[in-house]
Order: sequence, then structure tokens, then C-alpha cells
Amino acid sequence: MKNIIELKNINFSYADKTEALKNININIEEGKTTVILGENGAGKSTLFTILNGISKPSSGEYIFNGNKVNYSKKELYNIRKNIGIVFQEPDNQIFSSSVYDEIAFGVRNLGYNENEVKEFVNKSAVETGVTEFFDKPVHFLSYGQKKRVSIASILSMNPSVIIFDEPSACLDNKQTERLYNIYENLNKKGITLIISTHDMDFAYKISENAIVLHEGTVIFNGKTEDLFKNVEIVQKAGLKVPAIHILYNKLVEKSIIKNADYTPKSIDSLISILNSL
Ligand SMILES: Nc1ncnc2c1ncn2[C@@H]1O[C@H](COP(=O)(O)OP(=O)(O)O)[C@@H](O)[C@H]1O
Ligand SMILES: [Mg+2]
Repeated sequence: MKNIIELKNINFSYADKTEALKNININIEEGKTTVILGENGAGKSTLFTILNGISKPSSGEYIFNGNKVNYSKKELYNIRKNIGIVFQEPDNQIFSSSVYDEIAFGVRNLGYNENEVKEFVNKSAVETGVTEFFDKPVHFLSYGQKKRVSIASILSMNPSVIIFDEPSACLDNKQTERLYNIYENLNKKGITLIISTHDMDFAYKISENAIVLHEGTVIFNGKTEDLFKNVEIVQKAGLKVPAIHILYNKLVEKSIIKNADYTPKSIDSLISILNSL
């Protein structure tokens, strides 16, 4: 499996000398979904600013698609075009007056003509379910609708990687379910997803891989399934083991489930295993 992103010995400090990232070594597999976990202040958002080139590391190497990033203007353009980031607060990202213009903003900046812009905007609006709001002023939309518009504006630029900073915070169940479906479709298209979240049930269901940050260091980079078997890391990072993981292991331990072909990661898949017994 190919790594689309590799960080080697990355350090980053803010102007006030806060060491937000310390000796970070991580790999992110192409086409997979990776969750970034860790307590508030662990360094998740800072890591994202490194990944899309907003912040330059104090030291270390950033390798994107096999090439070391040298922070030239041309390469930063390439990174920002290829790695989209959906910020935690849609209000910090959205600044056009109409939904259409908001989604078109990034694509126009990439220098496409209006016909091409229209094509890309329409396509990403359909994928995120926001076409019905095209002519609405953005400030009339609900939080969840704004969130989808901010996803559409990133998607329209056709990035190969999309980063979501705590996307399910403040969303109701229905909006979270919609977001989950959007992720699934993006994942099917081969887009690499990197998602930070505090919702462990969601993280378990959505991801193949996990990276755990703790006080600016990486304490885990591997399969999400393996993470939740590691009690020490789970406790250190203040994570909660997903209910489905606990329940499934108990059913196996009690020999109620034997030789399941796959590890269920959602209630629905556990129920279908139980139904087949
Ligand atoms: N602009 C900034 N200036 C100084 N320190 C910052 C800034 N932004 C974040 N930090 C600090 O960097 C550390 C990591 O923060 P952050 O990346 O936002 O963590 P997370 O997203 O995991 O909550 C924290 O100690 C935080 O206080
Ligand atoms: Mg954050």
C-alpha cells in the first residue's frame, strides 16, 4: 500500500514558543480513511496546518506523494490544490454571500473558466446535497447545511486528500449520518480522508487507520482495530473504547460468536452476524 503522506521527525513551535508538535513520524495510506485522535490541545489542528502547508515545520521532512516538500511557491500551490481542509467552524471558512459563489470560490482561484467552474460546482453540490440552497445567502443556512457547503467548496477543487477537523461536533444524529454517507462516497472515489474526532464509535466505524496524539507526540500509528486492543494507549490518550468493540469481544469470549469472517464496526454489522447464527 502506498503512503500518500509521510512526516519524518517533524517539529513545530508557535511564535510564543509553544512546542505544539514534537518529533512527529507518521504515514498516511493512500485511499484509506485515517482518524486523528487525542485530547484537546494534543496537536491535531496544528498537524493539519502542517499537512496542507499553512504552517512550515521548524524541522523535519514532509513527503507528499513520494516527493519531499521544499516549500517553494509552486509546491505550496500544489499541496493546497491536492489537500483540502474542512475547518471545524464553517463560519471561519465561509465568506461568500451565496452558496454557489462559496462553492465556486476555490475553483475560480485555480483559474478555471466559468463553464468548468459551473460543472465542478454542480458536481460537488450534488454529492453533498446542497443544490437546493444555491441561491440562498450562506448566513441563512443551519450549522449542518453550512458544514456541507464548506465540504462542497473543498470537493469542487477535486483534491486527492481531504482533511476534516472535528466534523461531527455540534451535529445532530441525522446530520452526522449524512456526513457519514458523504465520507463513504468520497472514500469509494479513492479520496484519502483524514478526520479528527472525539467520537470513538464514529471513529471506529469510519476508519481503517488511526493516529493518536498526546501532548504533541505520536503515541500510536496503525490499524484502528489494534488501537482499541491497546489499553495503555487508550488510557494515556483519554480515549473511550467503542461500545461495539467491547460487546463483540465479549460475545467471542463467551463463544456466542465463533469464527466471524470480519470484525463488526457498527451495530448493523454486529446484528447481521448475530442474525446469521
Ligand atoms: N496560534 C497559536 N499560538 C500559540 N499556541 C497555540 C496556537 N494554536 C494552538 N496552540 C497550542 O498548541 C497546542 C496544540 O493545539 P491544537 O493543535 O489546537 O490541539 P488540538 O487541535 O488537538 O486541540 C496547544 O498547547 C495549544 O494551546
Ligand atoms: Mg483542534
